[in-house]
Amino acid sequence: MQNTAESRAVLLTGGAGYIGSHIAVELAASGRPAVIVDNLCNSSEEALRGIAEITGVEPVFYRTDARDKDAMREIVKKHNITEAIHLAGLKSVAESVSNPLEYYKVNLGTTLTLLEVLSECGGTGKVIFSSSATVYGVPDHIPVDEDAFAGTCFNPYGRTKYFNEQIIADVVAASEGRLSAVLLRYFNPIGAHPSGLIGEVPTGVPNNLMPYITQVAAGKREKLYVYGNDYETRDGTGVRDYIHVVDLARGHVKALEWLERHGEGKVEIFNLGTGRGSSVLEIVHTFERVNNIKIPYEFAPRRPGDIAEYYADPSKAERELGWRAELSLEDMCRDAWNAEKTLQSRAK
Ligand SMILES: NC(=O)c1ccc[n+]([C@@H]2O[C@H](COP(=O)([O-])OP(=O)(O)OC[C@H]3O[C@@H](n4cnc5c(N)ncnc54)[C@H](O)[C@@H]3O)[C@@H](O)[C@H]2O)c1
Repeated sequence: MQNTAESRAVLLTGGAGYIGSHIAVELAASGRPAVIVDNLCNSSEEALRGIAEITGVEPVFYRTDARDKDAMREIVKKHNITEAIHLAGLKSVAESVSNPLEYYKVNLGTTLTLLEVLSECGGTGKVIFSSSATVYGVPDHIPVDEDAFAGTCFNPYGRTKYFNEQIIADVVAASEGRLSAVLLRYFNPIGAHPSGLIGEVPTGVPNNLMPYITQVAAGKREKLYVYGNDYETRDGTGVRDYIHVVDLARGHVKALEWLERHGEGKVEIFNLGTGRGSSVLEIVHTFERVNNIKIPYEFAPRRPGDIAEYYADPSKAERELGWRAELSLEDMCRDAWNAEKTLQSRAK
């Protein structure tokens, strides 16, 4: 296969989504075109327009369910795909509890199809999988490194991440060196591209803190509910490791380069986090300060399954991938608000 730009295209499942659209931009910046597969069940073509405006190039896009094996086989063949970044899946913890079957069908089905199609192609295949710090459950130590015990997830969503990790490892092990994979355990991605042209656009009530804050700032919601103010943390509210989505996206490019440098047949896990924990109130106050907006909030009871505090030990990614998060909490809060305003004004 020739080393043309087209032959180096990277399959990006879920590439119209929040994180995927930022990865498409960073891939383009590294000279790698993305071939995006997304059924738009939680995203829209607006993200594709945003990617095109930022990069100056229309992304190749297929509106396809990533479980559709025939369609996926055709796309992989047509674009000589050997590398895939796999994000397609459902991500609401609450929905996964009320509709676990759908979560298992989609989140495992998309992975199985991708692995089947790459295996069938006969050549080598490299996969980067969007996993989550949720696989650590209640971590046995903090900061959480990759050796912390994984698999005690609290909900079906978390279990799909853990099962996918196991499935990928088994298939790579059986591939006689033809497949290799990196499992990226994300901590808490927030923020948006500084252009504001792509960002997190939740449908319905946001599941996560930052989109909730931006919706309160935009006047779409009256106030923020802060779940729990009696945790054993510095101000009583939960502490998480928030990472700018642009830093996270750059981590995928570094992971791809790592896979290209290392021999086939490997599966390696990397945490993508900053190594710093911030409390809910610290996020709220930083958002208020950098954007000069008041965020009314009210304390509410703890949510079942939430833990007081966790943050990453990202030193393995720094050592092996040559990657570290560079953007600050201020950047995350400013860029999140900028994207909320920009995307809303374009939607009108
Ligand atoms: N956002 C987070 O906090 C976070 C944290 C850890 C892991 N992750 C994982 O990262 C990935 C991306 O997350 P996100 O926040 O960008 O979510 P997102 O919902 O914005 O993106 C997921 C994309 O996958 C698409 N999709 C869903 N099912 C599909 C299917 N069957 N076929 C094709 N496309 C399909 C959706 O339309 C969406 O565009 C997900 O796998 C998620 O579980 C997210």
